[in-house]
Amino acid sequence: MTNMDDWIRQKSGVSNDAAFAIDSENLFASLGVDVFKKLSRSFYDRVYADEVVWFRNIFKNKDKEEAIQNQYEFFIQRMGGPALYSERKGHPALAARHMNFNMTEKAAERWLFHMRAALESVPEIDEPLRKKMYDYFAHTAYFLSFRVSQKN
Ligand code: HEM
Repeated sequence: MTNMDDWIRQKSGVSNDAAFAIDSENLFASLGVDVFKKLSRSFYDRVYADEVVWFRNIFKNKDKEEAIQNQYEFFIQRMGGPALYSERKGHPALAARHMNFNMTEKAAERWLFHMRAALESVPEIDEPLRKKMYDYFAHTAYFLSFRVSQKN
């Protein structure tokens, strides 16, 4: 196990196995397009209205509607649905695409705070699915914060 894996597990509290439990079933087949759209809208409604200004400002030059579409298309593709994101934008390359943002651990924490609330706001996502998705998000958020923090 690399230092990165250890660090991510420690920060997120999520093992690799738990993070990738999203691949043990087809979440897209269970949830469908509209649920993913709802989740991303709820998430970005929270982010763009965040009272925590430094976090909200990470998104200030980005169009909200486009951010919503980027996110739900990526989630759909990653969770068993059609490759909508890649058909439109190419490889997700998440670490590279986050390189210019202020991806601190605090930012990961705040991103996850909003994602937890967004998941809870969508009743179609039941508790076991919510946990699976949250574990994947938490693991990925700290992965991104680790990768981007190593860029120099
Ligand atoms: C750790 C905290 C995070 C911060 C501060 C952050 C910040 C951002 C920002 C500012 C954007 C640009 C908005 C746009 O134009 O789409 C973005 C895009 C995106 N983020 Fe994150 N993000 C975080 C975590 C995550 C996680 C955990 C995932 C996936 C599980 C993710 C997936 C994406 C995707 C797919 C895009 C669209 C990229 C593009 O097409 O350019 N992000 N993020």
